[in-house]
Amino acid sequence: MKVAVIGATGVVGGMIVRVLEERNVAIDTLLAYASRERAEGLSFRGADLAVHAATRERLLADRPDVAFFASSDDASAELAGALVDAGTIVIDNSATFRMAEGVPLVVPEVNPHAMHVDDRIFPVANCTAIVLTVALAPIERAFGLRSVRVATYQAVSGAGRAGLDALVREERGESPDGTFAAPIFRNVVPQVGGYDGDGDTGEEKKVVAETRKMLGRPDLVMAATTVRVPVMRAHSEAVFFETELPSSVEAIREALRSAPGVVLHDRGIVTPRDVEDTDLVHVARVRSEADDRTDTHFQMWVVGDQLRKGAATNAVQILELLIARGRFPADSVTLSLSKGERS
Ligand SMILES: NC(=O)c1ccc[n+]([C@@H]2O[C@H](COP(=O)([O-])OP(=O)(O)OC[C@H]3O[C@@H](n4cnc5c(N)ncnc54)[C@H](OP(=O)(O)O)[C@@H]3O)[C@@H](O)[C@H]2O)c1
Repeated sequence: MKVAVIGATGVVGGMIVRVLEERNVAIDTLLAYASRERAEGLSFRGADLAVHAATRERLLADRPDVAFFASSDDASAELAGALVDAGTIVIDNSATFRMAEGVPLVVPEVNPHAMHVDDRIFPVANCTAIVLTVALAPIERAFGLRSVRVATYQAVSGAGRAGLDALVREERGESPDGTFAAPIFRNVVPQVGGYDGDGDTGEEKKVVAETRKMLGRPDLVMAATTVRVPVMRAHSEAVFFETELPSSVEAIREALRSAPGVVLHDRGIVTPRDVEDTDLVHVARVRSEADDRTDTHFQMWVVGDQLRKGAATNAVQILELLIARGRFPADSVTLSLSKGERS
């Protein structure tokens, strides 16, 4: 199988290359692309990986079987369609195709049944929404959700390499460069993304719309306030939710304890630094709202590495699900697996 990563020099693309290697995905050839060509910096299975400029001509000439996009909405809009028309399967981390009618947002722990195996385009949902949905899905399955309200504490790497660099520069005493809406060093910035006119930010709109879509609950009452904090990696979320059926803290905990992709902390706390470079979503501080007499109002604290489960790992899991469902000829997958094991 020939696989391309577009945006391989970025924080998500670089992580996709790493996760493909860690999980020994059945790849014969891995091709890396960015906005411009360069030689240094990337490797895959012990070999240097040249980075090509992601032009339409180059990509169509290379004709990968699968292309991971981790670049920008514009690049996905311009290049992904052409590749799809040429027969490539596109797994796209941008927002370009996420809300398209009939196109599911697949999170293998949540809605594997939503995958149409013959589709050619598979958007990966917003990172904050994926982390939230992995924690909400077992509660929705067990008790139904009536409403969800969330306040987020989002790492600077959510704004890509530029976000990481901006915090490092401000920590060294340099002036803010406008990457964030306000200085990020020793600060908290209650604006992620631009405003669209009615008071919500783009990130808040995405979290609400995409969580509803992944849960299959377009009617879910939801509100979000998304906040950037001076943390390098992993997003945290304070979640307030109301269940349809009466429940209890212990029953909610039990649903979370047995849920795929979730680590429940019965006691104590969990912080972004605890979950860096891991694939599971961590939940702590599950509790009832004070004065709740209906046994339907709860709170929890959710943390997940947005570069991995929120982006790269989920993207690679989509490819693994396609392989498991027989989307690729068995001989190509078997052959490349054995090659992968040798290298
Ligand atoms: N960061 C996160 O936590 C996160 C989570 C979920 C989804 N996403 C999404 O993932 C995508 C990548 O984000 P990121 O955070 O990894 O950004 P990033 O660190 O800024 O990396 C962007 C990558 O895209 C490349 N690129 C930019 N313009 C391009 C173009 N016109 N053609 C080809 N490549 C181009 C860059 O290449 P150069 O190095 O040559 O500039 C770089 O490799 C975005 O769509 C973002 O919304 C990000």
